[in-house]
Amino acid sequence: MKVLVTEKIADKGIEALKNSGMEVDVDFQLCVERERLLDVIKNYDAIVVRSVTKVNEEFYQHATNLKVVGRAGNGVDNIEMEGATKRGIIVVNTPEANTVSAAEHSIGLLIASCRNIPQANGFIKNRNWDRSGFKGVELQGKTLGIVGLGRIGSLVATRMQSFGMKVVAYDPYITEERFKKFGVEKKEKLEDLVKESDFISIHTPKTEETFGMIGEKEFKLAKKGVRVVNCARGGIICEDALVKAMKEGIVASAGIDVLVDEPNTTSPLLDIDNVIITPHLGADTVEAQDNVGVTIAHEVVSALKGEMVPNA
Ligand code: NAD
Ligand code: MLT
Repeated sequence: MKVLVTEKIADKGIEALKNSGMEVDVDFQLCVERERLLDVIKNYDAIVVRSVTKVNEEFYQHATNLKVVGRAGNGVDNIEMEGATKRGIIVVNTPEANTVSAAEHSIGLLIASCRNIPQANGFIKNRNWDRSGFKGVELQGKTLGIVGLGRIGSLVATRMQSFGMKVVAYDPYITEERFKKFGVEKKEKLEDLVKESDFISIHTPKTEETFGMIGEKEFKLAKKGVRVVNCARGGIICEDALVKAMKEGIVASAGIDVLVDEPNTTSPLLDIDNVIITPHLGADTVEAQDNVGVTIAHEVVSALKGEMVPNA
């Protein structure tokens, strides 16, 4: 069986594929060199991707031998599920493997943005020493609003409680017990969370319902000086509305790991000083990548062997 890996996964993951008897080709350029990918994909039984390779109808039409798509990460945003389902192609992913890293990155963005750490770092690295202009705010005693109290949202909630934050959450799909379990106050409506929060952190999947769920209307309701973090998926906070709200001084800072279009070096958010931004690094730690790489390798191999796998 032949497996193509088009995006960087941990060496341990590649080794696990090879040790299972797979013939493995690794070519990271193929995630962006579309014509070449479409030309070679017919030779493979499985493909392993992360966020960049678009596995869509056009791709499936060329992937005439494909049996398995492995997404080395959480969610299947770049995989068209309908096309896979109608062809009997199994899609597997690793929803549990990088949650701690994504939670820690969300918290990193929150702290770095409210203390202007990247801006101050850039300033001193340019050989300037001046403490004015970087004054931040404390977390203790502030309210953090978590949108989506799932795997990552709940990790962020409990960690931020140790900073003395009050944590509230909006998540209409979970039980009262789950809010209680994490000591989080339930908000029945998103607007109640928005009105009360000093910080808002997004942890939902991208769906028709969540895309743009924090937009102009929500920013109008928010506290002046609210600070936002999005380490979930691009567009859950509407990017145009965020730019506007920042220019109007409604949003004091934003920590962003994900954009609607990725890769992206032209977003207007890049031009705003108090937006700190990372190129989709939420899961980029040694531990998460080892975990994701090995997990996806085992799932792809199991699926190719016709064994039971947790479907994405
Ligand atoms: P999860 O499925 O465990 O939790 C998501 C939660 O959102 C669930 O509790 C669900 O009920 C809730 N939710 C769904 N729709 C909602 C809505 N309309 N309003 C409020 N809540 C809603 O997911 P997770 O593993 O915690 O992942 C959260 C997000 O983080 C996902 O978007 C995932 O793709 C993203 N993620 C990003 C990175 C990164 O590198 N930046 C890494 C891992 C995960
Ligand atoms: C994920 O879905 O797990 C992430 O967004 C991380 C990634 O693609 O590396």
